[in-house]
Amino acid sequence: MKPKVCIITGGNSGIGKAAAVQIAQQGHKVIIACRSQARGEAALADIRQQANSNDVELLLLDLSRQSSIHAFAQAFLARYDVLDVLIHNAADFDIRRKQIVFTDEGVEQVWATNHVGPVLLTDLLLDALKQSTQGRIITISSKGLMTYPFLKVNLTDPEFREQKFSVQKAYYQSKLAQVMYTYWLARELEGTAVTANSIRVTNVRIDVDERYPHLPALLRKMYALKSRYAITPEEMAQTYTYLALSPEVAQTSGRYFDDPTHIVDSPAYTHDWNNIDKLMQATRTFIKKPA
Ligand SMILES: NC(=O)c1ccc[n+]([C@@H]2O[C@H](COP(=O)([O-])OP(=O)(O)OC[C@H]3O[C@@H](n4cnc5c(N)ncnc54)[C@H](OP(=O)(O)O)[C@@H]3O)[C@@H](O)[C@H]2O)c1
Repeated sequence: MKPKVCIITGGNSGIGKAAAVQIAQQGHKVIIACRSQARGEAALADIRQQANSNDVELLLLDLSRQSSIHAFAQAFLARYDVLDVLIHNAADFDIRRKQIVFTDEGVEQVWATNHVGPVLLTDLLLDALKQSTQGRIITISSKGLMTYPFLKVNLTDPEFREQKFSVQKAYYQSKLAQVMYTYWLARELEGTAVTANSIRVTNVRIDVDERYPHLPALLRKMYALKSRYAITPEEMAQTYTYLALSPEVAQTSGRYFDDPTHIVDSPAYTHDWNNIDKLMQATRTFIKKPA
């Protein structure tokens, strides 16, 4: 297989990092897009060593900030004409957050990072994806959405300016939006060689001490219990790697995967084109022209 160029956002930890190792191990170029230089560099050294590959790079990207997304895309496009795989893995989900947080660009942090950021990043990299013989866009959602079967994206207030803020609700709303965005992308990209699919990530082990230092005792216990039933980041990353590289899914688009062998369905609400089009119209109102 010709080496592919793959971007993984948030490739410095967890599933994204494990996927970076697996994809680099198979001889492909991986660019991890991370917001912290220090965490990015530490992960870069680790990934290169584990994958036994020097074809892994770090480019800085803070997905919550549109100025950073523009700078990232510019830096990437200055060096590459073609992008084969874009994995929207990074997500903001700080379970300790009780109060709404706005980015310095004035957008609610979860909505900005988990939904608006990926949409803008795809927009800026789409021409490069179309230059690939078979470009692939992969979004990441969550199996936890099953505990919110009637959840909808609040199109008039996705940032919780008027409703009481809940980080869980903000997170799951953003993950629901990403599934709908994937269906929208697949329809937009019909007739091109670019596909768009989403992954329904299950309960995956996280390093609680590293991700959430100073977690209150009750939440720590809850996470310890949750971890008992979790799979490893490496196991989950196999689905990322499959969707990124396998020739079996070269023609597959607009699907929602649990794992390589299971395509699953999402709620009827997410398939309604009226809902999807309204979501994308609302999303566009958050994307600002670069200064
Ligand atoms: N673990 C689970 O049980 C689970 C379940 C369902 C879905 N998921 C989804 O799976 C994906 C990977 O999660 P994970 O378990 O691997 O968690 P993780 O280890 O916490 O990884 C999240 C990554 O996103 C990055 N990130 C957060 N905000 C960012 C920003 N503004 N700009 C750039 N990067 C940012 C983090 O970077 P920093 O290191 O700088 O914070 C980190 O690298 C996420 O989309 C998550 O929602 C996970």
